[in-house]
Amino acid sequence: MKKIQAIRGMNDILPDQTPYWQKVESTLHRILARYGYQEIRLPLLESTALFQHSIGETTDIIEKEMYTFSDRNGESLTLRPEGTASCVRSSLQHSLLMQGIQRLWYYGVMFRYERPQKGRYRQFYQLGVEALGSEGPDVDAEHILMTARFWQQLGLTGLRLQLNSLGSPESRATYREHLINFFTGHQNYLDEDSRRRLYSNPMRILDSKNPAMQEIIEQAPQILDYLDNDSLNHFKALRDLLDRIGIHYEINPRLVRGLDYYTQTVFEWVTDQLGSQGTVCAGGRYDGLVEQLGGPSTPAAGFAMGIERLIALLGEQNLLREIARVDAYLVAVGLLAKHQALLFAEHLREAIPSIRLQINYGGGNFKAQLKRADRSGARWALILGDDEIAQNTVGVKDLRSEQPQQSILQSELPAYINQQIKDRVE
Ligand code: HAM
Repeated sequence: MKKIQAIRGMNDILPDQTPYWQKVESTLHRILARYGYQEIRLPLLESTALFQHSIGETTDIIEKEMYTFSDRNGESLTLRPEGTASCVRSSLQHSLLMQGIQRLWYYGVMFRYERPQKGRYRQFYQLGVEALGSEGPDVDAEHILMTARFWQQLGLTGLRLQLNSLGSPESRATYREHLINFFTGHQNYLDEDSRRRLYSNPMRILDSKNPAMQEIIEQAPQILDYLDNDSLNHFKALRDLLDRIGIHYEINPRLVRGLDYYTQTVFEWVTDQLGSQGTVCAGGRYDGLVEQLGGPSTPAAGFAMGIERLIALLGEQNLLREIARVDAYLVAVGLLAKHQALLFAEHLREAIPSIRLQINYGGGNFKAQLKRADRSGARWALILGDDEIAQNTVGVKDLRSEQPQQSILQSELPAYINQQIKDRVE
C-alpha cells in the first residue's frame, strides 16, 4: 500500500517541538488570566451559514477557503476557519451577554484551504481573544496592551503595531463608493484579481501585494478621510490612550483586514522576519456582528494570533531554549531490582514532585539500559541492582559529565536531586 501521509498544509507537531508549544501556551494562558479573561471551548464544526453570515460572502475565506461538506443528514457543515463567529454564536446561544460584558479567549485549530507555504497552513493554531459588550476605546487599548505583554513575556522584539480605522458601516459605505469610482477610472492599472474585486470587495484591492499595483494604490482615496465624527473620536481616543501608555504604532490607511465584520479599530502586529507571512496577530472591533447573527445590538472587539508564526518567530530570534524532557532514567538490573523498580520510581515521584523520571521498559542488560538512558536525554541514570537493593542505595551516574558513578542512600536521593534540578531551565 502507498504510504499514507498527512494532508498537505496540515502539520504534525513532533515531540521535540511540543515542549516549546507548551511553554508558549502556558505563558499566554497565564497572561490572559491576569487580565480576567476566561476560556471558552468551541466546536470545530459549525453550520456553514454561521460563517457565511459573519465573515462576508465576497471574502477569500467564504469564496474559496472553507472546508465545507454535507453530513449524513444533508446539513451543510464547515470546519471553522476562525473563532470569532463561533464565539459570538455560543454567547448568544447560552445568553452569556445577559450576564454583562464577556471577556473570553479560545485556543485551537482553524482550517482554511489556502495555498500552503511557510507560515501559511491549511490547519493552524490560533489563540483568540474577544470582549463582548463594551464599546469604548479602552477595550481596544487593553487588547493591544495584552498583546504587547505577550511579546514582552516571550522575549520577542521587533514586532510593529499597525493601526487603522474602518469607521462605521455608513462611513465605510461612502468610502466604498469613492474607491469604486477611483479604481473604475483607473481600470487599466488593475490586475485581474483587482478587477474581479472591483465591485464585490474593492477595499481588498488596497491589500494587494502585486508590485505593479502599488503606485495606483498609493493614489487611491484613504478611508481616514471618510470617517464620521464618532469614528474619528473613537480612533483619536484610542491613539491618545496608546500615546499615554507609550505603545508605538504606525497608522496604515491600507489595513483593511480580510473579514467583513470589522468596524472602527483594526490592528495587526507584523514582523519582517517571517517572509511574506509576517502578520503574527490581528484583530479589531466588530460592533455589528452580534446583531448580524440575530442578537441584540452589542459592541465587541478582539484579536487572534497564529501560533505557528509565533513559534517560528521565537525560533528566528533564538528564543527556543532547550527544555529538559527527562531528568532521570531508572536502570534496573536483575530480577529483584526489576520487581522493585516501579515502586521505587513512584516513591521518587512522590518525594520530588517536579522530577521527570523515565523507567526502563522491557529489561535488557546494564549496558543496553545505560544506552537507552543516554538516548532519553536524561541528566542522570539511576541504577538499581542486587547490591543497591541489599544496601538501600542507588547508583547515580551523571550522563552529561565525566564524573564517576556515585552511590547514594535511597533516603538521601530526593534531597540530592532536588538540589540539582532547582536551577533547571523550564
Ligand atoms: P485573521 O487575520 O484571519 O483574523 O487571522 C488571525 C491570525 O491567524 C493571522 O494574523 C495569522 O497569524 C494567523 N493565520 C491566519 N491564517 C493562517 C494560516 N493559513 N496559516 C497560519 N496562520 C494563519 C481572524 O481569524 C479573526 N477571527 C481575528 C479576530 C478575533 N478579530 C476579532 N476577533
